Amino acid sequence: MSKSWGNRLAWLPKLNRPVPEGMNNPLEIAAFEAETYFQSGNSGKSVFFELYPAMKEAYAIRKDGDGYVISGGQTGVLYGVYTLIRGIEAGETLPEGTQKPYYPLRMINCWDNMDGTVERGYAGRSIWFENGRFDYDPARIRQMGRMLASVGINVLCINNVNVHQPAQHLLDTLLPEVEEFAAILRPFGVRLMLSVDFSMPLQNGLSTADPEDVQVQDWWKAQAQKIWKCVPDLAGFLVKADSEHRPGPNAYNRTHAQGANMLARAIKPFGGVLVWRAFVYNCLQDWRDTQTDRPRAAYDLYQPLDGCFDENVVLQVKYGPFDFQVREPVSPLLYAMPKTPLALEFQLAQEYTGHQIDLFAMPPLWREVLDQMGKEKVCAVAAVSNLGRDGNWFGHPFAALNLFAFGLYGWNPDADPQKVIAAWVRNTYTLPASQQDTLASVLLGSRKTYEKYTAPLGLCWMVRPESHYGPSPYGYEFQAWGTYNRADCRGVGIDRTEKGTGYACQYPKEWAEVFASPQACPDELLLFFHRLPYSFRMKDGRTLIQRIYDDHFEGCREAENMQEALKTLSLPEPDREEALQRMDQQVQNAREWRDVINTFFRRFSGIEDEKGRKIYD
Ligand code: GCU
Repeated sequence: MSKSWGNRLAWLPKLNRPVPEGMNNPLEIAAFEAETYFQSGNSGKSVFFELYPAMKEAYAIRKDGDGYVISGGQTGVLYGVYTLIRGIEAGETLPEGTQKPYYPLRMINCWDNMDGTVERGYAGRSIWFENGRFDYDPARIRQMGRMLASVGINVLCINNVNVHQPAQHLLDTLLPEVEEFAAILRPFGVRLMLSVDFSMPLQNGLSTADPEDVQVQDWWKAQAQKIWKCVPDLAGFLVKADSEHRPGPNAYNRTHAQGANMLARAIKPFGGVLVWRAFVYNCLQDWRDTQTDRPRAAYDLYQPLDGCFDENVVLQVKYGPFDFQVREPVSPLLYAMPKTPLALEFQLAQEYTGHQIDLFAMPPLWREVLDQMGKEKVCAVAAVSNLGRDGNWFGHPFAALNLFAFGLYGWNPDADPQKVIAAWVRNTYTLPASQQDTLASVLLGSRKTYEKYTAPLGLCWMVRPESHYGPSPYGYEFQAWGTYNRADCRGVGIDRTEKGTGYACQYPKEWAEVFASPQACPDELLLFFHRLPYSFRMKDGRTLIQRIYDDHFEGCREAENMQEALKTLSLPEPDREEALQRMDQQVQNAREWRDVINTFFRRFSGIEDEKGRKIYD
C-alpha cells in the first residue's frame, strides 16, 4: 500500500483545486480548469470558449493576443483546455486545426470485483466497490473523471469481465447506484459500460440462456429497457463468453455471432455498443497434445464469422494471440476481420510486465503493434485498468504514464513514444531539464530491459504460475493452459510454421513469409515461431544460447543502471521513496530472472557462457 497523496491528481499537479461538487457542465469545468491553471502562477492568461455542440469531442485552439480561444463541442472544449495545459507543461507547440479523436471509443476496462478486490490489480483495492456494493469517495471519483478527461478517455467499464456474484445486480437492484456513479463521471465526458454474464437469464427464472430462444431475447430486451431508462447514456455491455469457464453461446451449439448479435439487438434501440471479447481458447489442454496450439484459437474461431456480426457489435481482440505477454506477434485476427468492427485490447495492469513494481512503459510496445497491424484495422481501443485505491492511484507513481499514454494514443495512434513519455514526465514533475531527460530515457528503455531479463526471444510464459511475477521457466510447462516452451537438451521453442502447427499461416502473405523463416523472422519473435537448437546462429553471428545468456546479463545490468539513475533525481516525496523502494525490488527480481533462466538453459544445453560470467549450477 503506497502512502497517501490525499486526493491529488496523478499528473498536472498544478490543477490543485478539486472540481467542486455540483459542477456538472463540461464548459463550466473547462473554465474552472483554465482559471486554476492560469491564475495560479501561470501569468494570468485568459481563455475564451466558443461552444459548437455539433463538434462533440472535437475542438480547436487558437492564440488570441495574450490568451487563447478554444472552440469545440461540449466535451471538446474540456478536452481542448486539457490539451492546452498539457502542451504548455510539456513545452510543445499548440496543435493546429481541428482536433478529433482517431478512435471514437477509448475504453478502460476495470477488472474490479464487488468484494473490493481487483483481478490483476496492483494498486490496491477497488476505488468504488467494497463488501458487495458501491463504496466510494465522490471527490475521488471526480478526480478520476478529471484524469480520464485530461487524456481524452471516454468509456469506463466498471466491473470485471469475469462477472462474479453479486455483480449481476448492477443490472437490476443496483441500477440506481450505477446511475449515481455515472452522473459523477458524465460531466467529464466519461460514459459507463457494464460487463455482463451471458447466463444471466438462467439466474432469473429462465430455463435457458440460448440466444435463439425468444424468451431469452425478450428477457434481455426488457433488461436493456430498464437499464437505459436509468442510465440513458450507458455506452454498452462488455462480454467475456465461452472463455476460461465463463458461460456463452457454445453451450447451446450457437456461434459467437449468434450470442453477440442477440445482446446487440437488445441494446441497439438505446444506442448501446456490444463489446464481445475474442480472448477464447481451450484452457483445458493436455500438454501431451502437440497439435492444439493456443495462439491459433481466436483466428480459427472468429475468422469464419467475419461479416456475421451486427453493426453495433465490436469484437475486442488482445494485441497478441496469447495473453498480454512482454512480446508477442500481433494477433493475426486483426488482419482477418475486414467486415467486423474491431477494438484493440491492451493491458495497463502490469500482469505479465512487472506488477507495477518493475518499470514497464508501454508506448514502445503499442507503437510496434500499431505499426505492424495498421491503425485503421480497428475502430476502438480498450485497456485493462491499472488504477486502484492506493494513494497514488497506480501503486508505482510512474505507472501513471501508461494510462496517460493510452489516452493520447486513442487520439493519435501515430504518436511517438519518446514524445509521449517526455510529455508525461513534464506534466507530472517539475525537475531540472537534465533530470527530466534522465527519467524519460529510463522509462523509454524500460520495456526492452524487462524483456531482456525475463522472457527470451518471444518464448513467453516463463513466469510463476498464478501470480505471474518472477521466473518459473517450467511453471506452465505441464499445465492445461496451452502455454509451453518445450525446452529440452536439443533445443527450445515450438515450430509454428506450415511444417509445425501452421499458426504462421494465419497471417497475410507478407508477414507469413517473414515469420516462416528463422533467418527473416525478427530476433525478438524467433522462438515464438521456431523450434531451434541452442547452436543456431542469430543474425549477428551469436549462437542462440549465447544470446539468451547475454540478454539476461545485460537486462539485469540495465536494471541496476536504472536504479543508479533514479537515485540522482530530485523527485518529490513520497514519489521518490516509493520509486526507489520499488526499484530495489525490481533489481532483486531482475537478478532472480537472470540466474534462474540462465541456469535453466545451461542445464539443458550443457553449453557454457562464452564470457565466463557466473551461471549457477
Ligand atoms: C488473463 C488473466 C485473467 C483474465 C484474463 C482475461 O488470462 O490472467 O485474470 O481474466 O486474462 O483477459 O479475461
